Amino acid sequence: MPPSLSLITFLSLLLLRHTVTATTIGVTYIPSPTLPPPEQVIATFLSLKIAAVRLPVPDPNIIRTFSYTNISLFLTIPNSLIPAISGNRSAASLWLYEHVIPFYPRAHITAISVGTHVLAQGDVTAADLLVPAIRNVRRCLLDIGIQQITVSTTFSFVNIMSTPFPPSSAEFQQPANDFVIKPLLDVLTETNSSFFVSLYPYSVYKLKPEIPIGFALFQQHAYNFREDTITGVRYRNLFDSMFDAVVAAMAVAGHENIPVIVAETGWPCFDSSNEVEARDVYSKMYLQGLINHVRLGKGTPLRKEGASEIYIYEVFDTNDTAGTKGLNGDGSWQNWGFCYPNMSMKFPIDFSSGGSAVTEAEVMLVTAYILLDLLVSCRLDFIIALTRLGFY
Ligand SMILES: *[C@@H]1O[C@H](CO)[C@@H](O)[C@H](O)[C@H]1NC(C)=O
Ligand SMILES: *[C@@H]1O[C@H](CO)[C@@H](O)[C@H](O)[C@H]1NC(C)=O
Ligand SMILES: *[C@@H]1O[C@H](CO)[C@@H](O)[C@H](O)[C@H]1NC(C)=O
Ligand SMILES: *[C@@H]1O[C@H](CO)[C@@H](O)[C@H](O)[C@H]1NC(C)=O
Ligand SMILES: *[C@@H]1O[C@H](CO)[C@@H](O)[C@H](O)[C@H]1NC(C)=O
Repeated sequence: MPPSLSLITFLSLLLLRHTVTATTIGVTYIPSPTLPPPEQVIATFLSLKIAAVRLPVPDPNIIRTFSYTNISLFLTIPNSLIPAISGNRSAASLWLYEHVIPFYPRAHITAISVGTHVLAQGDVTAADLLVPAIRNVRRCLLDIGIQQITVSTTFSFVNIMSTPFPPSSAEFQQPANDFVIKPLLDVLTETNSSFFVSLYPYSVYKLKPEIPIGFALFQQHAYNFREDTITGVRYRNLFDSMFDAVVAAMAVAGHENIPVIVAETGWPCFDSSNEVEARDVYSKMYLQGLINHVRLGKGTPLRKEGASEIYIYEVFDTNDTAGTKGLNGDGSWQNWGFCYPNMSMKFPIDFSSGGSAVTEAEVMLVTAYILLDLLVSCRLDFIIALTRLGFY
């Protein structure tokens, strides 16, 4: 009895070691003259134990400031440069000579996204130019002797997926699949690079009235799951289900092992048009729920190691014109930042460990908020929100 017991202990320790993986959790940082200077912001990142930062608008001076830290950097080449870079390798090398060469490897630049959400802008020409542009950036890096930086482009989940549920039967949308995603996947496999995707459960929750909010916010509840009827796998949160849809679609396209970096994810904490779910308390639940979930190191049902990196959107509120968040077409805007401009957190988030659990009191607070909204306004979406809240 004792020997077999110790064997079981040994095996389970082994299993534990294999399932505990290190997904790097980072943040998106968009500096602005109205915010504290980068040195001060970076000091805050260090004190919060933030290991990686995504810079959608990379400024050489800011990259230089990061070179005194161990924080890894995800840089972005603006969409407007894609035509030049795809046609002309010296345009690619010009950008690299300004943003990478002077700082690398002291600045831990690990990833470069050539453009962001290019398909979302419906610009077919730019999408056609993506893969040649990525190849040019990659070749320039190799010419300089840099192999370790992963070069790719960032897609938005809602722009590339068709029928994301059940995850196991998800595929990439046509025609994007044939003319840009498949050729890109070939390049990524060839160059040992990662697939970048922005993944917002908030957006999918807003699009699909049948999804209960607890499922989007990592709330644990016995009945809070959706079953993939093909694989029989039970998904307990929307993030995993969306992530696995991407993994399954890549497998259908013939590439099942490419690492996935979630370039953006988050939850708005304010909406100027009174979107009922855009609140601090939900934003906190989503972010801490995500961090705690990732820290368990169990990955997702289809990808044991989970995402290799996840970048939370975002540190400070910005009307991010480079991305798809912030200012809406109708003049309304959303805030996605978890910090005030004075760098104090809007709500506590623990990046380092298992973190603070979302308390029973907070769940009750959310319910109370919704009820209050219902009392002061009889808008239909509040009533819908209330019924959906009842699901968890
Ligand atoms: C940076 O990382 C290296 C190796 O991982 C470690 O030895 C060093 O202490 C780190 N420096 C800081 C400032 O964290
Ligand atoms: C290529 O790019 C460089 C740097 O941006 C520019 O000086 C040059 O004129 C471009 N050449 C062509 C043929 O577009
Ligand atoms: C591929 O990339 C991973 C992580 O970036 C690295 O550990 C591995 O050594 C690379 N493999 C090759 C063949 O370059
Ligand atoms: C975003 O734009 C709105 C509308 O112009 C403005 O009221 C808000 O303060 C802006 N937010 C930031 C962080 O600049
Ligand atoms: C930071 O700003 C917020 C919002 O304006 C305020 O509530 C908070 O007290 C400030 N914190 C500090 C330490 O100044």
